[in-house]
Amino acid sequence: MKEQFPLTGISSVAMHTCNTENDAHAHITPIYATSTFVFDTAEQGMERFKSIDKEKIYSRWGNPTFKAAEDTIAALEAFGLQDDFGKPLQLKALLHASGQAAMTTLFMSNLKSGDTILSHFSLYGGTYELFHKVLEQTGINTIIADLRDLNIVEDTIKKNPSIKLVHIETPANPTIQCVDIEAVTKIAKQHQLIVSVDNTFATPYLQQPFKYGVDFVFHSTTKFLNGHGTAIGGVLIGKDIDLMKTKVWKWHALLGGNSNAFDAFLLSMGMKTLELRMERHCHNAMEVASYLEAHDSVAQVNYTGLTSHPDYYISMKQMKHPGALMSFELKGGLEAGKQFIDKLQMCVRAVSLGTVDTLISHPASMTHFSVPREERIKFGITDGLIRVSVGIENVADILNDFEQALNL
Ligand SMILES: Cc1ncc(COP(=O)(O)O)c(C=O)c1O
Repeated sequence: MKEQFPLTGISSVAMHTCNTENDAHAHITPIYATSTFVFDTAEQGMERFKSIDKEKIYSRWGNPTFKAAEDTIAALEAFGLQDDFGKPLQLKALLHASGQAAMTTLFMSNLKSGDTILSHFSLYGGTYELFHKVLEQTGINTIIADLRDLNIVEDTIKKNPSIKLVHIETPANPTIQCVDIEAVTKIAKQHQLIVSVDNTFATPYLQQPFKYGVDFVFHSTTKFLNGHGTAIGGVLIGKDIDLMKTKVWKWHALLGGNSNAFDAFLLSMGMKTLELRMERHCHNAMEVASYLEAHDSVAQVNYTGLTSHPDYYISMKQMKHPGALMSFELKGGLEAGKQFIDKLQMCVRAVSLGTVDTLISHPASMTHFSVPREERIKFGITDGLIRVSVGIENVADILNDFEQALNL
């Protein structure tokens, strides 16, 4: 980092954190599209291999374009936070090919056969499948419980000594349920458990889980961090720098879930405007949620900015704003939902979220298709639920599109 004085704003951090020095004096970190790096001498090669940083060796192990994005994400998650000694918190990020790859590194590098994960019952469908279809085969089991009930958290941990890691997704997909990161982490730490948080929906601008003593934060960077829907990616961030540079890095390198220079570059570009985008996303989302809540055809709106959401207070406690994701159910159920989605003229019918444009999806038939129906319903993902990722268009146009689609 070039600056001598501490930066006071998160946008300044997003733009000025990574080291942009390069031989061509390019203003922006170049796209280093190279699989390998040249050693000037054998001695230099040996030194690079010996170093804990393993830089400029081979791109599955790391690459300067990945590093630029990694350093920025680590700085955003650490922004304004301090370590146990009152010093600015230092974090290490590892960029991956996808959110799923980053999650795989997280669980595989920290757990072994016989260990159990404790997680919440509203989760991204891919995380649920990773737990039950992949990790289970390696002998790592998962207990799914309502982590919003702290008595259940405590009881479940006490009754299951094999639990080694608590994984929290908050806000959770697609019900926007929120888990109290501080309270759950406090219980987990009394039992010496590892805590990881999927911060994809919130981004470090809205929520910083390291503030509450968690060990790892994870993002699908495909979403708000990239912001423009141009690349799949994932990142794992940890506060034990040595662990991140050794065991976690080793699993990451051996599993082969590395990013690529083009996607890392797009991510770096996207993160520069994170604050501006999130402010507008959240402003628009509040308007859309209020509009839906007042509409005669709408049975229920799940948005933590509304006092009607059961997790309104938790969200207010740990998030700067309630975010850009919401889901809602029409009084006419599945059929009315399908008609609404088909009638939209500007908002985009697509899965994924966190792009600058508004995306609408139907979780039961799309993102949560592979979750058994009875499980899905238990999680609150009903057949007629519609998920909205509110974009940064002019909000009047989003509302006009909803109005014509709901009232035709
Ligand atoms: C909350 C959450 N976590 C993880 C993932 C997985 O990320 P990716 O699709 O980048 O692998 C997603 C994807 O939608 C998600 O929404």
